[in-house]
Amino acid sequence: MVDTSVNLCGITLQNPVIPASGTFGFGLEMAEFYDLNVLGAIAIKGTTVAPRLGNPSPRIAECTQGLLNSIGLQNPGAEQVVKEEIPNLRMHFRQPIIGNICGFSVDDYRECCRIVAPNVDLVELNISCPNVHNGGMAFGTTERGAAEVVTAVRDVCDRPLFVKLSPNVTDIVSIAKTCENAGADGLTLINTLLGMRIDIRRRVPVLAQKMGGFSGPAVFPVALRMVYQVHKVCSLPIIGCGGVQSAEDVIEMMMAGATAVQVGSENLRNPYACPDIIKHLPERMKQLKINNLNQIIGIIE
Ligand code: SIN
Repeated sequence: MVDTSVNLCGITLQNPVIPASGTFGFGLEMAEFYDLNVLGAIAIKGTTVAPRLGNPSPRIAECTQGLLNSIGLQNPGAEQVVKEEIPNLRMHFRQPIIGNICGFSVDDYRECCRIVAPNVDLVELNISCPNVHNGGMAFGTTERGAAEVVTAVRDVCDRPLFVKLSPNVTDIVSIAKTCENAGADGLTLINTLLGMRIDIRRRVPVLAQKMGGFSGPAVFPVALRMVYQVHKVCSLPIIGCGGVQSAEDVIEMMMAGATAVQVGSENLRNPYACPDIIKHLPERMKQLKINNLNQIIGIIE
């Protein structure tokens, strides 16, 4: 028997596999495919204080080895999420729930966290959404912005506070260090890379918003590199995210420094991606002589 359990700030996950925010709705819509209780945890859709319809269509563009999205934080608003979505999910799901908190100002983030945090097990502060004009990634691409939001949210958040960082920066390590110093308990690396496609027949951008966030297998080496670099200098636990498709990718991400791993775009291609990975993980561990996943976290020098 191998041990697949991991620990995020005192919260035990039966395995490290978590559907990434934005690729799994509020969880329940996936319950018709399989028993969600096999998952390590679920990260629910990014939530804002007010309900949002999101950006105009088209807001998805296919790419080689990935996709662009410009959803624009479509969600029913924080009050509805805590009144309906989370209780409905809890009726089917006994593992930890991660709330993904978004905002357009520091006060927004604080208010959203105040509403959502008591209803989830862990908070993921999303300062990295590239699809909104104010807020989102604007906070996550400067040390000052990151520090301001983390500091403001910290004292209304009585749950482990993870900050989801943007890869659209020159130096991810300095932003990560800033979050650590401002009181974060952990980091999620990475959100999507800002990208663009053009319809060459119509001579217009494919996305109505022109640009969007690129994710999928093509970004895996970038995410892995960032997890590795940040793990070397930060003592915070890291949730690795970006292009993960297989049990091998989970192991690789953990060797780079991740304690848990989110699966994003792959859920959209294969709704069974997470249970498939969870099923294969123990046999891959046995083949690689890994008895306990905690033994491999950050082992790469
Ligand atoms: C979106 O809703 O636009 C995607 C969320 C994100 O990138 O954080």
